[in-house]
Amino acid sequence: MDTIKRHTTRRVAAEVRKICAVVFEGNRREGVRDGIPYAYTAPSPTRYPWQWYWDSCFIAIALRHIDPKRARQELESLLNASTPEGFIGHTIFWGKKLTLRRLPIYNVVHRRDSMTSTIQPPLLAWAWRIVVGDPALEPAIVRHQAEITRLRDLEGDGLIWIIQPDESGLDASPIFDPVWGKENGGRLGFRRLLVRNRKFNFDARKIAAAGLPVACDPLTNTLHGLSRLALGQPSITPALVKRLWDKEAGLFVLEAKPGIDKRLPVTCAALAPLALPDLPEEIAREMIERHVLNNKSFWTEVASPSVALDDPAFSLKDSIGPLKRYWRGPTWVNTTWLVWLGLTRLGYTAEANRLADSIAQAVRREGLREYYNPLTGKGMGTKDFGWSTLVLDMLANDPRARTSYIPARSLGTPQSRPPRPNTAPARPAASSMGR
Ligand code: GLC
Repeated sequence: MDTIKRHTTRRVAAEVRKICAVVFEGNRREGVRDGIPYAYTAPSPTRYPWQWYWDSCFIAIALRHIDPKRARQELESLLNASTPEGFIGHTIFWGKKLTLRRLPIYNVVHRRDSMTSTIQPPLLAWAWRIVVGDPALEPAIVRHQAEITRLRDLEGDGLIWIIQPDESGLDASPIFDPVWGKENGGRLGFRRLLVRNRKFNFDARKIAAAGLPVACDPLTNTLHGLSRLALGQPSITPALVKRLWDKEAGLFVLEAKPGIDKRLPVTCAALAPLALPDLPEEIAREMIERHVLNNKSFWTEVASPSVALDDPAFSLKDSIGPLKRYWRGPTWVNTTWLVWLGLTRLGYTAEANRLADSIAQAVRREGLREYYNPLTGKGMGTKDFGWSTLVLDMLANDPRARTSYIPARSLGTPQSRPPRPNTAPARPAASSMGR
């Protein structure tokens, strides 16, 4: 791979924009189901035909740079799928029904269900804030956020719990190995987990009461926390720090019930809270200095890998036979974008630019792939993948990115004052070529 340039040239940015526009167009799906209109971007034209909750939120954030009206429709389609109580599933089966072949791995109670009964990280309110405006003015969004809290805030401290690894969006991440073991995503046992949770109607309180595993993870809670801030609701960042910050490791960890006794692999989930604009500055700087900019773990040629390079769980093998082993090493653009928001806020401008540029170069060369080899930038996974268009946001230079698009008035705490300019010396780019 060519040595990464410090700043993306206008020519590269224009090429990337064109590539994104083509995928937005090609993956566009529109129609009416039972009288309800929908208009969304399929995550990929082949592998993922339906509307995925967190994909659509990320896609809308990127799409606003090209077509704000369609970006809004993307989010409205999610709201159109909502139950009267405000529940919106992980996958919504607009257009065509769930196929029999996929039934064993989709979290539905009945095949005829219009969406899954599981969630993905609830970032809709935050995405609405970025794409459209104040989500507190939209009763359907307020209802959705309240319903998530009602269903998943199992301990009343504002943090939410997931009942399956795929609810975090990080399906087979090794961070869940100590929690679900052979029933983690990407393993044969996952089907068993699904069948068991189906018996509980995917009800988290009942699952937890039965002593079955549930997890409180930093990525899901970061996105939930950003939605709360976007709505002007009290921050859960202090609760997140209290429960999940591991001072010694300088990272966020996961908590599970029943407790876990195995080592927790270091993954991109541990870095996600960097996107919280009210994360105490000393915590954010420690994470950046010790982990994000560390050549041995997360600062790779095309950063940030889904598992730290020096973690024994790191792997570039993304399948075993027909089983997809996602999130076990390659770089995904959405979690990289969360890190980029943190670098941008803390004033690590050169590093944020380098991150953006390395993704832009990979997209220009390889197209919008589902994920990339963090050492070489080679494209991996499915093609024409929707949320990799988030590269547009990294190239856009929107000043609101400095507070993760949360208005200053929602950041009442002293911790959330604007950052000091960065005085740390810029790190050399990792040279991991040929490893
Ligand atoms: C994979 C990813 C998940 C995503 C889905 C659709 O399952 O792990 O995060 O939502 O694909 O792109």
